[in-house]
Amino acid sequence: MYAVESQGLTKSYFTTQKQPGFGGAVKALLKPDKKEVQAVKGIDLKIEPGEVIGFLGPNGAGKTTTLKMLSGILHPTGGWCKVLGYTPTERKPELLRQLSLVMGNKQQLWWDLPAWDSFVVFRELYEVPEAEFKKRVEYLIEALDLKDKVHTQVRRLSLGERMKCELVAALLYRPQIVFLDEPTLGLDVISQQRIREFLREAHAQDNCTILLTSHYMQDVQELCKRTIVIDKGTVVYDGTLEALSRKFSDSRTIVLTFSREVERADAEGFGEIEAFEGTSVRIQVEKDRTPQVMAGLLQKLPVHDVSVEEVSVEEVIRRLFAENAK
Ligand SMILES: Nc1ncnc2c1ncn2[C@@H]1O[C@H](COP(=O)(O)OP(=O)(O)OP(=O)(O)O)[C@@H](O)[C@H]1O
Ligand SMILES: [Mg+2]
Repeated sequence: MYAVESQGLTKSYFTTQKQPGFGGAVKALLKPDKKEVQAVKGIDLKIEPGEVIGFLGPNGAGKTTTLKMLSGILHPTGGWCKVLGYTPTERKPELLRQLSLVMGNKQQLWWDLPAWDSFVVFRELYEVPEAEFKKRVEYLIEALDLKDKVHTQVRRLSLGERMKCELVAALLYRPQIVFLDEPTLGLDVISQQRIREFLREAHAQDNCTILLTSHYMQDVQELCKRTIVIDKGTVVYDGTLEALSRKFSDSRTIVLTFSREVERADAEGFGEIEAFEGTSVRIQVEKDRTPQVMAGLLQKLPVHDVSVEEVSVEEVIRRLFAENAK
């Protein structure tokens, strides 16, 4: 049995449009102008137990909507999905006890209570035996370095501390399925790293299935073997990041800084200009032509510094979207 499976999973939102002014308000009330937004358009997923999957896509691609359907918060308007063999919207306790959803931009802990109190509520809710709870929470608190923080009102914690507390709550009942929607959103690099390490460890311990969305490529690079990329509600790539990079590895980016400002026109004709700023430029060239192009650039332009980069994962994803937009 798959941990997560879906076929033709679809979600349309219907929103009412309102024209400006009082007349518009009356009209919207009497004869609403309904507009359909197709957020998710037929997604097929097959995820094995224990997989850690990076779920990528630009803003508005439908990632959060998909995770909400998989968690049973939203009803699909088409297709179906199963998590551990259950239909999530039926909200069977057998499934809910095994499932966790963490959203970086929305919190589940009680704002006015210390996180600890919320953990205790979660213990009751998920019927975690007292001894096990103690061991587990102690481990989680230690791993996330939260010892001094869990007895402070959540509202007084920093964003990073709050996120860590959210993760403790989400994992304290050892769910088999963990959906993480931008868990590192807005966190500094140290906290991001800490959370990544923690997730890697938690996965190694429990072998839970993790589906994670993030706009930080490093999260996905470090944690996920498999990546599913969606754009405009459909899957545009499913595989490893390496395989995706290989698709584009026939090119290199030459990065130049100049000792004085140059005209963009002077940097043209060598390859595809990724970025130009007057005193610096990034030019993409075919791998085999790199030495020649470099020689030409050095001869023509007042180069101060130079480096050659492989195509970054960010760039790979950008190109994938650009290809998809055609
Ligand atoms: N409650 C809603 N009502 C109407 N439209 C919605 C609603 N929620 C989301 N949408 C629309 O559905 C589309 C997909 O949104 P979703 O939040 O799933 O994207 P996302 O991939 O999570 O994006 P982001 O990376 O910005 O979080 C967007 O066009 C969004 O405007
Ligand atoms: Mg989202």
